[in-house]
Amino acid sequence: MSSIIEDLIARKIFNNRGEETIEVDVVTNGGFGRAGAPAGKSRGKAEVIYYPQGGVEGAIKKVDDLIAPELAGLNADYQEEIDNTLHELDGTSDFKNIGGNTAFAISLANAEAAANSHGLLLFQFIGGNAATTLPYPLGNCLSGGAHARGKAPDIQEYLALPHGAESFLEAQTANTQIHKKLGDLLKKKNSQFNGGKSDEGAWIANIDTVDAFDVMAKVCEEVGNEVDFECGFGLDVAASSLWKPKEEKYVYENEGKKRDTAEQLEFMLELIEKYHVAYVEDPFHEEDYESFAELTRKAKNCLICGDDLFTTNTERLNNGIKINAGNAIIIKVNQIGTLSDAALTIETAKRHGYDPVMSHRSGDTCDWHIAHLAVAYNCPLIKTGIVEGSRIAKLNELIRIEHFLGNRARMADLKIR
Ligand code: PGA
Ligand code: ZN
Repeated sequence: MSSIIEDLIARKIFNNRGEETIEVDVVTNGGFGRAGAPAGKSRGKAEVIYYPQGGVEGAIKKVDDLIAPELAGLNADYQEEIDNTLHELDGTSDFKNIGGNTAFAISLANAEAAANSHGLLLFQFIGGNAATTLPYPLGNCLSGGAHARGKAPDIQEYLALPHGAESFLEAQTANTQIHKKLGDLLKKKNSQFNGGKSDEGAWIANIDTVDAFDVMAKVCEEVGNEVDFECGFGLDVAASSLWKPKEEKYVYENEGKKRDTAEQLEFMLELIEKYHVAYVEDPFHEEDYESFAELTRKAKNCLICGDDLFTTNTERLNNGIKINAGNAIIIKVNQIGTLSDAALTIETAKRHGYDPVMSHRSGDTCDWHIAHLAVAYNCPLIKTGIVEGSRIAKLNELIRIEHFLGNRARMADLKIR
């Protein structure tokens, strides 16, 4: 089979928030690939720029006039060559000219077109025979912070983590039960709770930031007893959204408290210890590498993960590696633009003992590529919600991959197990 690129077709589609986004088809002489770009709401400052001037329409015009003629005739098998060409055509470090989401959609569609041209699934094409490990799903149950509207906890995400599960299907089953039970309990606690959900399908409830820990711990324990394996939970604090640089304080509006950096560290350590929190993402704002390092030194049995801190960027990760800031990293390909850039970040992470956590964005499409990327790159965790269409598209694809692998499938080795 041959993977010579014949054409690129770009169009405007919508994400689950109803925002316009770009989708690209890559057509080779032996196959086809398609990818749509997601969008974040609590974005890191160091992320690439999503679209050039003129928004999605401007991006489509760039694909038609500039990028498609350059990529036609190249071989989709050589992902780095395709991605380097995108960098050259753009000419800036943050994809200002063609747009990071344009680069993302082309890069992912190209990878899929190459796999398809060889009659392989994406995870097999990238990961080869060694790609047999399924990630644990970190599932968003309760939304707060920038992801909620109205009264809600200050912490952005309370994430179920069924780390005792022996298969992905078991793990996802537990997560759906935790999500459901949590909804029932929130209703019991507050009759005004009307079942509202965030873009990621997590509940939005008027519950206190700290009370939410008791509720999560209770529900995870109950479901753990029912399914007979351990279910824990984690957090995405998304602390850049709480940090007020002028005051040099983290402002917890719902809780009515302000914390300086030392108090934030204390608070995080208290929560980790009291509730056996297994995973904490962005506990400090995106420039505070030192506090990440201090928490990583002091926290026991807990992954400390950088999202806005690293923005899937190898240089920023290297800053962290120098002082052991964190021991896990969120991988969002559209934070950096291309699959090759993200792959380099994943490789760097793994070489230095950081767990890569493959992740969706809050504004996403039914694109399922991250399911394949998590398996292809042997990521021990994937963060892609529990319910809601764009999340289910990815979670069901992982169930299919596990089914396809049959008795070769196994669950990842988690440091916190
Ligand atoms: P997003 O944030 O809204 O930028 O996708 C999700 C996250 O902070 O992990
Ligand atoms: Zn995050």
